[in-house]
Amino acid sequence: MLLAVGMFQSGWQSAAADGPSYTADGRLVLPVGYRKWVFIGAPLTPNGLNNGKAGFPEFHNVYVQDKNLTVYQKTGSFPEGTVIVKELLLIAKSTYPDGSADSASGRGYGEGAFNGMDVTVKDSKRFADTNGWGFFNFGHHALPYEPTAKLASKQECASCHIAGAAKTDLTWVEFYPVLRGRN
Ligand code: HEC
Repeated sequence: MLLAVGMFQSGWQSAAADGPSYTADGRLVLPVGYRKWVFIGAPLTPNGLNNGKAGFPEFHNVYVQDKNLTVYQKTGSFPEGTVIVKELLLIAKSTYPDGSADSASGRGYGEGAFNGMDVTVKDSKRFADTNGWGFFNFGHHALPYEPTAKLASKQECASCHIAGAAKTDLTWVEFYPVLRGRN
């Protein structure tokens, strides 16, 4: 009996941590455990390089699960159920107007506080209207993030990914060294 309960619990936990999970009305549940997935890159568009007005002045830390990364590397497309997390991190405390700071290793940018999260999920049936991917925003602010997110409109998110990244499964692989060369 105890064993059965243990199996049930671990099954439930892996469902939440191991793939997309939705509420009854189709909202995506905040992924958990993603900071221990494979970290594939961190594009940075700081205010200091965008006239102080970057739409996303933070680091964009991007994570995908190992098993899904492996399929992309082999085939050039992600399997159904792939979740990609982009977590925003503020630039660490700065000493210069461009947001940079001095450190023992030189002047530059370091990562500060967590500040928001965007997620894409591959499901060709559920998201057929947006080339097989669903787009979700869990907030653009400090922790905690929203516990669930509604599907974003095509115009808000997917249209730009479709226009710029259609050949690479709607994912901007040029920013991620382990994907772009498929090595
Ligand atoms: C104007 C174009 C544009 C719009 C609109 C846009 N994105 Fe992106 N997105 C990008 C670019 C470019 C990257 C990669 C570089 C970066 O992060 O700066 C990216 C990266 C991502 C990533 C990391 C995986 C990948 O595809 O590289 C996720 C997840 C993501 N976007 C989700 C969203 C969500 C959710 C929305 C809507 C709330 C959205 N995006 C709206 C251009 C866009």
